[in-house]
Amino acid sequence: MISVTEGAPELASGLVQALRAAGAKACLQDSANAVNAACVIMTEGLSEGSITERHWQVLEACCRLQLEGRKLILLERAQADELTHVSGLQGLSRTLSQEWPATDIVTWSLEGREEDGFPSIVQALSAGVGNVVFAGKQAHELKVMGAPVRSRRAQSERNAWFVSGGGRGVTAACVIRLAQMQPGSVFLLAGRSPIVEWPHHLPMMKDIKSLRMALIEDARSRGLKPVLPDIDRQAKALLASAEIRQTLNAIETAGAEAVYLMADVSDADGLQRAMQDAVAQYGPVTGLVHGAGVLADSLADKKTPREVQRVFRPKVEGLLNILACLDISRLRHVGLFSSAAAVFGNVGQSDYAMANAWLNAVARELSHQLPDAIVKSFCWGPWEGGMVDDTLAAHFAQRGIQLISLEDGARIFADQILFGEPSETELVIGDEWTS
Ligand SMILES: NC(=O)c1ccc[n+]([C@@H]2O[C@H](COP(=O)([O-])OP(=O)(O)OC[C@H]3O[C@@H](n4cnc5c(N)ncnc54)[C@H](OP(=O)(O)O)[C@@H]3O)[C@@H](O)[C@H]2O)c1
Repeated sequence: MISVTEGAPELASGLVQALRAAGAKACLQDSANAVNAACVIMTEGLSEGSITERHWQVLEACCRLQLEGRKLILLERAQADELTHVSGLQGLSRTLSQEWPATDIVTWSLEGREEDGFPSIVQALSAGVGNVVFAGKQAHELKVMGAPVRSRRAQSERNAWFVSGGGRGVTAACVIRLAQMQPGSVFLLAGRSPIVEWPHHLPMMKDIKSLRMALIEDARSRGLKPVLPDIDRQAKALLASAEIRQTLNAIETAGAEAVYLMADVSDADGLQRAMQDAVAQYGPVTGLVHGAGVLADSLADKKTPREVQRVFRPKVEGLLNILACLDISRLRHVGLFSSAAAVFGNVGQSDYAMANAWLNAVARELSHQLPDAIVKSFCWGPWEGGMVDDTLAAHFAQRGIQLISLEDGARIFADQILFGEPSETELVIGDEWTS
C-alpha cells in the first residue's frame, strides 16, 4: 500500500488517482494519523503556506511517520517564479538518512507543473530512485561542482555590494578579499551587533575567557558585584564590535569604502529603513552576498518550531527581505552562503540543511532570472573560524574532514563571485562527507 499525505490536498488526490490508474494500491492519508503503508509519499512540501512553517510541517510529519523499513518520499517544487514556493527538502532527506539509517527517505523535486511529474513518480516508485529532480520524464541528480581554485579571466569593475553578516565571521574574511580585488567598490555590511566603544582602561584582547575575567575584575575594582550573564553579554558585544571595526578598517585599507548598517535581516521594516538611506547615498546594489546565518543543532525528533524558526529567520526569511529591498535587475553578482550540509546532510542539522538547500534552489532560480549575472551558492564545508568553535572543529577532525582556512576560502569566494562560470551555480567547497 502507498499512502499519500494530504499536505497539498488537491495534488495529493490527483497523485492517488494517477497511482491507482497505474494499478497501484494507494490511499490518501492524514499525516497526523498512524499509517500501515510500506511507502508514504508526502505532499506537505508542495503546500503554499509560509516558508518556515512549511519546512517545519515536513520535518514534523517525517518524525511522526518514520518507521524502520518504511520508504518516505518527500515531494517539493524544484522551481517556481515565487521563491517562497521552492523548498530545501533534499537537505532534509540527506540529513534524516544519516539520523535514521533504517528508514529509506528521499526527496523528489518536481520541475514544471506538479501534475506533469505524476507519471514520473509512478514509474520511479518501482525503480528505487534516490534524491532526484524530475524534469518531465527525465530524472537527474542535482548538479554540484567542486570550485576551481584559479580565476579564468581578469576583470575590473566597481560594485555597490550589500553583504548580510559581512561584519564578522567567515563572510567578513571573504569580503575583505573581495575589496582587495575591487578597491573601487563600496561595501554595505549588515549585522545585528551594535558598534560599541572598547573601555579605554582595558587592553585589547580577543579571547573571551580573558575578557570576561578582565570585566569581572574591573567591576569589582569599582565596588560592583559582577553578574555573570551580564558580563558574558558585555564580553560578546565588545568582541563582536571589535571584529566589525577590524573588517571596516581592512576594507578601507584595501582602498574600498565600507559602511556598517546595524540591521537584523529578518526584520523586514528595520532592514528597509536601513537600506533606503544607504542606497540613496551609494546607488543601487549591484552585488549581493548573503552570509547571515545561525545554527541550532539537535536531532530531528528533538527539534522544536522555535529552533527551525531561529535557523530560517536570518537565512531564508532574511534573504527574501533583502531581495524585497533591492532592484534585482541591477544585480551582477550574487553569492549565497550555503553549506555542505545541504548537499550531503549532517546529523543534528535537519533545519540548517533545509534552509541551505533552499538557498541552493534560490540560486538556481536567480541564475535563470538574471542571465547576465554570476550567481553562486557556496556550499561550504567547515571553516577554520566563524561558527566552527573548538568543539565542532574537534568533531570534524574526528571524521577526517579538513577545515577550510580563512585564506583559501576567501580566495575561492572572491575568485568565483567575480569571475566564476555562470552556469556553475552550486559549488561544494571542502571535503565530501557521507556520515
Ligand atoms: N563557518 C563555517 O564553517 C560555515 C560552513 C558552512 C556555511 N557557513 C555559512 O556561512 C555564513 C557565515 O557563517 P560564520 O561561520 O561566519 O558564522 P558566524 O561567525 O556566527 O557569523 C554569522 C554572521 O551572520 C550575522 N547574522 C546572524 N543573524 C543575523 C541577522 N538576523 N541579521 C543580520 N546578520 C545576522 C552575524 O552578525 P550579528 O551577530 O552581528 O548579527 C555574523 O556576522 C553562515 O550563513 C553559515 O551558515 C559557515
